[in-house]
Amino acid sequence: MKKILVIDDDVASGRTLQLHFRSQGYDTAVASGVDEGLATAQQLQPHLLVMDIRMPGKSGLEGLPEFKQKFSDIRVIMITAFHDMESTIQAMQRGADDYIHKPIDIDELDAAVSKILAGNGSEKGMVHAGGGGAGDSDYAMVGSSRAMKEIYKTIGLVAQSPATVLITGESGTGKELVARAIHCAATGSSAPFVAVNCAAVVETLLESDMFGHEKGAFTGAVNRQPGKFALAEGGSIFLDEVGDLSPGVQAKLLRVIQEKEFVPLGGSQVKCTNARVIGATNADLLERVGQGKFREDLYYRFQVVNIHLPPLRERMEDLDQLVPALLGRINRTMHRKVPRLMGEVMDAFRAYTWPGNVRELENVLMKAVALSPGNTITLDLMPEQIAGGISAERAEEKPAAEQSLSDVEREHVARVLATTHWHRGRACEVLGISRPRLRRLISQYGLEAPAGGGAEPKSGMLVEEQE
Ligand SMILES: Nc1ncnc2c1ncn2[C@@H]1O[C@H](COP(=O)(O)OP(=O)(O)OP(=O)(O)O)[C@@H](O)[C@H]1O
Ligand SMILES: [Mg+2]
Repeated sequence: MKKILVIDDDVASGRTLQLHFRSQGYDTAVASGVDEGLATAQQLQPHLLVMDIRMPGKSGLEGLPEFKQKFSDIRVIMITAFHDMESTIQAMQRGADDYIHKPIDIDELDAAVSKILAGNGSEKGMVHAGGGGAGDSDYAMVGSSRAMKEIYKTIGLVAQSPATVLITGESGTGKELVARAIHCAATGSSAPFVAVNCAAVVETLLESDMFGHEKGAFTGAVNRQPGKFALAEGGSIFLDEVGDLSPGVQAKLLRVIQEKEFVPLGGSQVKCTNARVIGATNADLLERVGQGKFREDLYYRFQVVNIHLPPLRERMEDLDQLVPALLGRINRTMHRKVPRLMGEVMDAFRAYTWPGNVRELENVLMKAVALSPGNTITLDLMPEQIAGGISAERAEEKPAAEQSLSDVEREHVARVLATTHWHRGRACEVLGISRPRLRRLISQYGLEAPAGGGAEPKSGMLVEEQE
């Protein structure tokens, strides 16, 4: 029988998991902290550890290396209420097999447990690099959609090997940010991260830019130049728009990736490199292979690890974290204090399709901060295509004269609940009714509190700057 140890300082939640795993036929023990867990594990010798991250005393992240050291075969699922990139990457780097967010989706947990226990031991010998900081806050990614969480996990895993990575996704989805996150997680932010825009320059210049040149290699080459691969030694080289490389440079790049060596322009000496290659493209590389524009062998070298960033319109729940994070960043760089955003602006954002993705959101916010006379971003600061969406939606609402009394009642109750952030006491005051009556109306009209419960009055302002 497979054995599972649950460690959670929240006794009730630990017990619930224990009962659940027992009902699934696992031998399960529960502990309320890292040290107690280590002692229990000595006895139980569990196959799987399911551990909370935030606990008083030693955190789950601190405890994780101790477990991996004492029980080298143990598999680990970390559980946390944090949705940030950094703790996910750290957990994966310290040897966690999976990472699940609270509130726990029991199907997701079951799927992770059976996947791990079914393949127990199959990943033996996998090298887990030691811990270490994962990010540089300027480049921290936010977003807790399922897609983003998977991306954080992949970043944590890929950082442990020197694999070549290809990042794909529409323009403005955060490809460069992912490249930097891999770089920081793998080498720390002090190692060089060198970016090359493969689309920007003509072939010889690009070749010399990437691989360097000897003095006199071509007209105008008055001095020896080391080139970006040499500058990226010990770090990472980021090849942006890699699909646009010319055939000549593609051949040289293949050699670098395969043999870890290159020859500077006009030179004869072979140079070695240990820089990790990270490519990015918003083109369909496979299509380019089909058209004979991109080498198939190079394509497969890049396909080893592919991280795909979905467009923002497919992960709109990320807006709730992106908007405050970007607003904070913009205020800092522009030395402004426009930390708030009207709820209706957020509604307009949710109704828009964001063809330019996160970069478009950033630009819209930047413009609004620059033009805002006060400390709040209002709908009139939004461009027509964004503000227009929400006014069109309003125009579609039925005129009052055609609504029934109960329609009006439902709408009014919903509006009051929304403006009081579902503070029922305050809503009763505004509506002039008793609590039982409010409860009846809520159930009669099937009204539902937004996720997170509300009850934090901020007088219509939805977003505050995040530091
Ligand atoms: N998840 C995120 N969290 C915070 N900021 C983000 C996120 N994704 C993108 N950004 C920001 O959006 C902007 C665009 O991101 P980035 O330059 O990485 O996109 P890209 O995919 O490389 O775009 P392009 O294809 O146009 O080069 C940057 O300012 C970046 O900091
Ligand atoms: Mg880019």
